[in-house]
Amino acid sequence: MAKEWINLVKKELTPEDLLRIIFDYTAKIASERKLNAVLVHMADMGREMILSDRCTVWLIDEPNHQLYTTVAHGVDEIRIPFGTGLVGSAVLSGEPIIIEDAYNDPRHNDENDRKTGYHTKSIITVPFRNNDGEIIGAYQAINKLTAVGYFTARDLELLSLAASYAGKSLESVMLHQEIIDTQREIISTMGEVGEIRSKETGNHVKRVAEYSYVLAIGLGLSASQAELLRTASPMHDIGKVAIPDAVLNKPGKLTEEEYDIIKSHTKIGHQLLRGSKRELLRTASIVAEQHHEKWDGNGYPAGRKGEDIHIFGRITAVADVFDALSAERVYKAAWPIEKIENLFREERGRHFDPAVVDVFFEQLPKLLDIRQRLTDEAE
Ligand SMILES: [Fe+2]
Ligand SMILES: [Fe+2]
Repeated sequence: MAKEWINLVKKELTPEDLLRIIFDYTAKIASERKLNAVLVHMADMGREMILSDRCTVWLIDEPNHQLYTTVAHGVDEIRIPFGTGLVGSAVLSGEPIIIEDAYNDPRHNDENDRKTGYHTKSIITVPFRNNDGEIIGAYQAINKLTAVGYFTARDLELLSLAASYAGKSLESVMLHQEIIDTQREIISTMGEVGEIRSKETGNHVKRVAEYSYVLAIGLGLSASQAELLRTASPMHDIGKVAIPDAVLNKPGKLTEEEYDIIKSHTKIGHQLLRGSKRELLRTASIVAEQHHEKWDGNGYPAGRKGEDIHIFGRITAVADVFDALSAERVYKAAWPIEKIENLFREERGRHFDPAVVDVFFEQLPKLLDIRQRLTDEAE
């Protein structure tokens, strides 16, 4: 049974080796913001510390009752139902599991080996906890590469050490991700509230977000600024929550007074959001206030002109109008693309920032792809 890994017998690590591994990986992990990358670094760190052939870090996904992991950079997540496999039982019981020979152990499921041709012999699974002492995941390593050929109590200690060194960074990255996801969801939902009241569909805000992102990148804004705008732009009409239905959805012509009430959605949105210390909400307040300003100064609410209008406002204006014209509605057909192009040509330097219009034309194929992908029929 001359399996490859048996030929790779390794010497035990010296304390200096161990320290170097710990220093190297904790530095890498501490500077990492992406959860998947942290999982891969943690797994590599564990593998090198205990000289195993393979190592994986699993995390609990409570709402979906799953355990998940990333085994390599750029590889999608792997998910298993909560409580299944050795990892599952270690996480449930909170106790580590060490197996010397998997094929003599009824808990081992050899299905994966049969599929891949890999031979699992020794296994160690160590659950680990967050700062509050709750189990959040587990290390699992397979096949000890030293002459002994199986994992020992010392490996258990080392893996626990790896988990505790990486645990803080892991938790802060998870928290960071959680906050970003939550913010995004809240903003999108709030944005939809404003739009649905004015008969726009939920996909309108999603399309405006994507169009704004493409335009921002095309204008040369940094990826993080473009991302910020993508998240904030769905809130552009949030102020409409405060406009009475009788005005907002009045059939037929509006009186001047009623039109003024509608226009106030910009100021209301701005007031709702401007008090926040969060960059994201402050950005949203700028977009809410300025998405109806016009390059030539004839917009509202302030009649700002040219670059006095924040670039996020100028971009969202193009994205919002493009979507209003190009999407079909119950009450109106979509404009043909030639007619839309004509409008943007005419309004270049009048309603819209000429630079944004130029990027709009450059990126039009991409924008149309987005429209196709986020079409309202798919809702
Ligand atoms: Fe608006
Ligand atoms: Fe809109």
